[in-house]
Amino acid sequence: MKKAIRGRCLSYRGNPFADPVSDCLQYEEDGLIVIEAGHIIGFGPASDILQEIGPGVTVTAYKDALICPGFIDCHVHYPQTEMIGAYGKQLIDWLNKYTFITEQKFANKDYAVRSVKVFLKEMLRAGTTTSAVFCTVHPQSVDAFFEQSAKLNMRNIAGKALMDRFAPTGLKDTAQTGYDETKKLIEKWHGKGRALYAVTPRFAPTSTEEQMEMTGAVWQEHPGTYLQSHVSENKAEIDWVKELYPNHKSYVDVYDHYGQLGERAIFGHAVHFTEEDFRIFSETGTAIAHCPTSNLFLGSGLFQLERAMTGTSPVRVGLATDLGGGTNFSQLVSMNEAYKIAQLNGFALDAHKAFYLITRGAAEALYLEDRIGSLAEGYEADITVLDLKATPILDYRLDHAETLEEQLFALVMLGDDRVTRATYVAGELVYERNHETGDTRFIGI
Ligand code: GUN
Ligand code: ZN
Repeated sequence: MKKAIRGRCLSYRGNPFADPVSDCLQYEEDGLIVIEAGHIIGFGPASDILQEIGPGVTVTAYKDALICPGFIDCHVHYPQTEMIGAYGKQLIDWLNKYTFITEQKFANKDYAVRSVKVFLKEMLRAGTTTSAVFCTVHPQSVDAFFEQSAKLNMRNIAGKALMDRFAPTGLKDTAQTGYDETKKLIEKWHGKGRALYAVTPRFAPTSTEEQMEMTGAVWQEHPGTYLQSHVSENKAEIDWVKELYPNHKSYVDVYDHYGQLGERAIFGHAVHFTEEDFRIFSETGTAIAHCPTSNLFLGSGLFQLERAMTGTSPVRVGLATDLGGGTNFSQLVSMNEAYKIAQLNGFALDAHKAFYLITRGAAEALYLEDRIGSLAEGYEADITVLDLKATPILDYRLDHAETLEEQLFALVMLGDDRVTRATYVAGELVYERNHETGDTRFIGI
């Protein structure tokens, strides 16, 4: 059954950091998106497309709205949902004091399922339709995630954390069990429906050299899978890596040495990157997940976005929440904080570039730009509808914004999950927020 969505539509088909926005932007003042079997089969000006689709197609029209590709979160930890915003010190203390305590509870699958449900609902409420997700060390935490994700038919990436040292006993695997469990989970989940598997070494400090070796091997043995981890987030963490891996030139060199860089490898943070680090990422096609709310919350530092995108060694970058180090599910909030971090680095991130970083840019970071992240024929129909009258101040501010750029920037500064009016996954409505009352409804979870 064909259906269609009508309204103002915003999408990018190129990278506005590299090319003029006019070459990258597809904006339709009155656009129509035609959907069939979970895919977009037509997109363009409503006046043109309506003539092509013929009668009998249900059209849902959104007034005072902006229709976008579903948002993409390039790095997030679902088990940390319950400890979002936990007060404390910086990364290593925070991991030991809160994270490693919380994650032990995910040995219990029912516990994990309850957490996944809350997490996925918050994602849909935020208008996020794809995420790259860290589960815990327990394989059942991965099963819990993918089982619930499959019910919603979401294109999500996830994997079991690999960690065999410097963690409580209940959170440790071994090089061999980590390898075996990862292999089994890949066979079970990668490519099943819309699920994609990420080999997930937590970060170099919590893996022995033996585990690093076997992690690189299991990833290389399964082409098409992802690898996700953390790098150069915090100064004390970087010093620790130097101590633990004294024979390596740098933190990045550790991952390089163990065969963990390349296409479909994505690393959170990269806050303290050198020119050499950017060069290696650029040359290997490795991507960065920029995690603004987390980097501010944990006092990690100011990511050099402009340098990463437009320096001599450009890197694929997508925005990410990194929850529970991150403090908000909404990628609108990530854009807001990314803007402020860029400002402190002397770069004023404009709204088109920001929206690109949570849609097409994030899809490029995940090597999924041929399937998601844009509104275009043949793409998967993951769509987020933003309510331009969601709050009184947004409504009032937008009344005084003249250009599209000004309107988008007001959304970046004033937006959060209240702005999500509807979320569609593979063409199906899964979440909506009533325009007038603010009441919300989930469908399918
Ligand atoms: N480095 C290793 N594990 C984590 C984590 O859970 N969160 C963050 N922000 N950094 C990490
Ligand atoms: Zn993280």
